[in-house]
Amino acid sequence: MKNSFTLKSSKSKPLNGNLLVPSDKSISIRSLIISSLCIGNTRIFNLLESEDVINTLKVLKQLKIKVEKNKEFYEIHGQGGLYSDPQLSLNFGNSGTGIRLMAGLLSTSQINATLVGDKSLSSRPMLRVIEPLKKMNVSISHENGFLPIKILNKRKKHVPINHTLKIGSAQVKSSILLAAFNVKGATKILEKIPSRNHTEIMLKYLGANLNTKKNVITLTSPNFLKPKDLRIPGDFSSAAFIIVAVLLSKNSYVKIRNVGLNFFRTGLVDVLKRMNAKINIGNKKEFNGELVGDIDVASSNLIATTVKKELSPRLIDEYPILFVAAAYAEGVSKFHGLSELKIKESNRLITMAKALSDAGVKLKLEENSIEISGKKLQEGGNYVQTDSDHRIAMSMLIFGLISEKPIIIDEMTMIKTSFPNFKETFQKIGARIEEFQKF
Ligand code: S3P
Repeated sequence: MKNSFTLKSSKSKPLNGNLLVPSDKSISIRSLIISSLCIGNTRIFNLLESEDVINTLKVLKQLKIKVEKNKEFYEIHGQGGLYSDPQLSLNFGNSGTGIRLMAGLLSTSQINATLVGDKSLSSRPMLRVIEPLKKMNVSISHENGFLPIKILNKRKKHVPINHTLKIGSAQVKSSILLAAFNVKGATKILEKIPSRNHTEIMLKYLGANLNTKKNVITLTSPNFLKPKDLRIPGDFSSAAFIIVAVLLSKNSYVKIRNVGLNFFRTGLVDVLKRMNAKINIGNKKEFNGELVGDIDVASSNLIATTVKKELSPRLIDEYPILFVAAAYAEGVSKFHGLSELKIKESNRLITMAKALSDAGVKLKLEENSIEISGKKLQEGGNYVQTDSDHRIAMSMLIFGLISEKPIIIDEMTMIKTSFPNFKETFQKIGARIEEFQKF
């Protein structure tokens, strides 16, 4: 039988260091897609070279966008949104952002393409983008709301739409905006629950006719985007694992530099501060219109909290690691309005509830909410079924840095979809995360 390796985490000494985290996944994917809309060459510095991002890059190459890799930057030869029909299906792997954004853009691009993904992506709902796109009169088909998505060049007249977004989803919003890029006239999106606005920021930075007033985003096309250098900040969602690991470890202090601090991404900081966390943000600046800064974090005695549904889009990807923080906080924490958490790379509500409860954490799971009873020391010692979900894997490994007994995860390969050097980064600050041979 073929031997393979996974990861194991064990109780660690204090964590210390001054470091950078991998570049932002959401902004990296957008930088590739939006550069292809520019007329001319865009240089992208610090692009995240993770699987999700590289899959979008490969897709653009299949659509005959020239991409050059230089020592310090990627150079994308944009053609103002002109693409060629791909020979083969476009495979987005694990990336919900890649596929949903490109489905929007390609649906109004006068090309023929089939969009596919891995097992996890093939089980994630696509109607949330297909339904609003259909209102624009595009030719798009699907398998009962799932992949593959087929886009047919029927040379139809696409129409701008007024759309109300009922769920707080940046992927859906961005899919519509990118489709609207090719549709003459004003497309308006009313966001009931605002979500991350990286697409709006980047389009505007590159000169798009886009404005946001109250909760209404208006993009008026045609647009002619001029290339400018783009620099990708560190990913707050990756920094989140370090933040929580340091908060929970004794006598620890870490500085994380150049992290993206977009308001719609940093709900975790607000919640952790309520939980008594010592987190300081300084050295604020901007990279291409995005707020960036340094995060200082120190060991803290966390107390329980309650998080309401309204905050969910601002910390959607951080719930798994926040549940770990809650497991070690004093008191009972409550998290409400978690329906969107159930349709991520895995059903994160169920996957985390099982992993934590197997690790000895007392919790109460309901349809869309969870209550977690925290205590200073949890047992651990379990083999975690991650359901191939990178954030479940990383969150439970952080759990194992504090628990009495080590944590072993069932597989580690998917961590590279967002955090390629996860093990090395943690080892550098003193965490015991090691390879473990499966038998
Ligand atoms: C993302 C938006 C969020 C998030 C995902 C990345 C993006 O998804 O969970 O990891 O880059 O737009 P939804 O828009 O579906 O909430």
